[in-house]
Amino acid sequence: MSGTFIFDNKSVEMPVKEGTIGPSVVDIGKLYSQTGMFTYDPGFTSTASCESKITYIDGDEGVLLYRGYPIDQLAEHGDFLETCYLLLYGELPTAAQKADFDYTITRHTMVHEQMARFFQGFRRDAHPMAVMVASVGALSAFYHDSTDISDPKQRMIASMRMIAKVPTLAAMAYKYYIGQPFVYPKNDLDYTSNFLRMCFAVPCEDYKINPVLSRALDRIFILHADHEQNASTSTVRLSGSSGANPFACIAAGIACLWGPAHGGANEAALKMLSEIGTVDRIPHYIARAKDKNDPFRLMGFGHRVYKNYDPRAKIMQRTTHEVLNELGIKDDPLLDVALELERIALHDDYFIEKKLYPNIDFYSGITLKAMGFPTTMFTVLFAVARTVGWIAQWKEMIEDPGQKIGRPRQLYTGAPKREYAPIGKR
Ligand code: SDX
Repeated sequence: MSGTFIFDNKSVEMPVKEGTIGPSVVDIGKLYSQTGMFTYDPGFTSTASCESKITYIDGDEGVLLYRGYPIDQLAEHGDFLETCYLLLYGELPTAAQKADFDYTITRHTMVHEQMARFFQGFRRDAHPMAVMVASVGALSAFYHDSTDISDPKQRMIASMRMIAKVPTLAAMAYKYYIGQPFVYPKNDLDYTSNFLRMCFAVPCEDYKINPVLSRALDRIFILHADHEQNASTSTVRLSGSSGANPFACIAAGIACLWGPAHGGANEAALKMLSEIGTVDRIPHYIARAKDKNDPFRLMGFGHRVYKNYDPRAKIMQRTTHEVLNELGIKDDPLLDVALELERIALHDDYFIEKKLYPNIDFYSGITLKAMGFPTTMFTVLFAVARTVGWIAQWKEMIEDPGQKIGRPRQLYTGAPKREYAPIGKR
């Protein structure tokens, strides 16, 4: 199938490519060479940047599939490392493959001892996301044996190392932030229990894993693992297209995720709920969110793709109740505000017309705060989970035989050519 682009009595045939499911694409690769014109789509609202087999989102139906499997089934029946295997290799692991994968990841969780000294350069109150950008990027200084991206073996080792070490670095960033000693990983714990222990154990007493909280956080990691070509994943792909080493690419993804319009929304959403404080103040904030002249937005609401309820938010809400019940938190004022804010917003014409629904970041903050994490750690946890998605997408890009460096063009509206004027004549 193809389409014809007609402009200024020129017509250009452009092939239409169809996917397995979801929108087809118009291949505009020859547009410039045949018309001298570019397409224009800042924010990429109508642009597919690549072909991918990893994650599919149907924004209108509120569907999210990892390698074809619905997110609710993976979150219900599997664990995070199973999802990591699926995203990386494309199939659910057999029992033997899962055991081997768990073993490999577990035995890469330690970081070079010099990394501990790397942290000493930061102020104690440095935002943990700043520490994560720096420390994940610094990993490339320690692993010269896995930065040759043309070698599939080195690509896989670098992938395993990042999935395994990012939680350790995240826990170290948290411990450094609160002034407690670093806790080494323990190989007899599962991935998420290991992470919780590295965050919350102290040398003065044994740390008891709460299986309900560990399972809840593991599920939260599954929900955040990948999400098609979002801003941070696109950042990782663009960085990787130049041949930069994988550690540097993931560090770039962490930097992009930090923004409040993206992964930083979970921290911003909790701050917003705290600022609203009580249910009676909600109408004032709803009015601000609707006021064109007020830059205030309801953090945790809206999405570029989901024009229906974010399927992850539903599972997130259930997990919030599970965690609060387990911790005996009966009436969390923030949850009361969140539930009432959601109820009001979903019945308000402005939000209905603009198809603004809660997204994954709306409830995650309440859950993570209840588990004992400070708001500054919320996006770090998002980065821990999304590392596997970034790596799977980076790997898919590197292994694409048609891969080339990403280099968009522009619409130039600056000054036309003009002659240099000596300073005395300006
Ligand atoms: C994530 O891309 C991904 O997949 C991201 C993510 C992932 O897993 O990787 O899902 C994770 O980043 C979730 C989103 C977290 N961000 C927030 O919760 C921040 C608040 N949300 C918004 O900033 C906004 O909704 C975005 C950034 C998420 C989406 O912005 P778009 O697609 O560019 O939409 P838009 O800004 O053009 O908004 C459309 C309209 C606008 O009104 P008009 O100009 O048409 O009159 O809706 C309004 C906006 O003003 N609007 C909101 C709103 N979000 C959009 N109004 C009030 N509150 C909001 N939250």
